[in-house]
Amino acid sequence: YDSTIINCTFVKPIIFSFCSTSGKVAVVDVSPCNTQPCQLHKGQSYSVNVTFNSGVESQTSKAVVHGIIAGVPVPFPIPIEDGCKSGIQCPIKKQQSYHYLNSLPVKSEYPAIKLVVEWELRDDNKQDLFCIRFPVQIVS
Ligand SMILES: *[C@@H]1O[C@H](CO)[C@@H](O)[C@H](O)[C@H]1NC(C)=O
Repeated sequence: YDSTIINCTFVKPIIFSFCSTSGKVAVVDVSPCNTQPCQLHKGQSYSVNVTFNSGVESQTSKAVVHGIIAGVPVPFPIPIEDGCKSGIQCPIKKQQSYHYLNSLPVKSEYPAIKLVVEWELRDDNKQDLFCIRFPVQIVS
């Protein structure tokens, strides 16, 4: 019996809170992230996977991401804003479950601080399909 250990990475869901009552978010995965809050290393990119159930129908979806630093929301640019190109098959149907997949690039020039990431996905009417917040710590 060959008991070779298979190298496999388990993704642990992270702790998050809601900034909107829209949609139902079941799981948020940030990878790689082995700590709470996630430590994000400068110059690296992290994958984000939000499993949610939509409360509405929508043809489009657009992500809006902010870093909340000392209570002030600062735009946090992500490479692909279009949710329909981020693992979601549009049009979005009501009461359907989706995995929203995107990446969070951490630029080298970001300060090494703790902040809260606020991630919104907006529908045709600029209302939230979901809005979640999770704490992170940027490290060098
Ligand atoms: C996203 O997360 C869900 C729930 O944990 C999981 O079933 C799915 O496989 C994940 N997708 C990817 C691409 O990691």
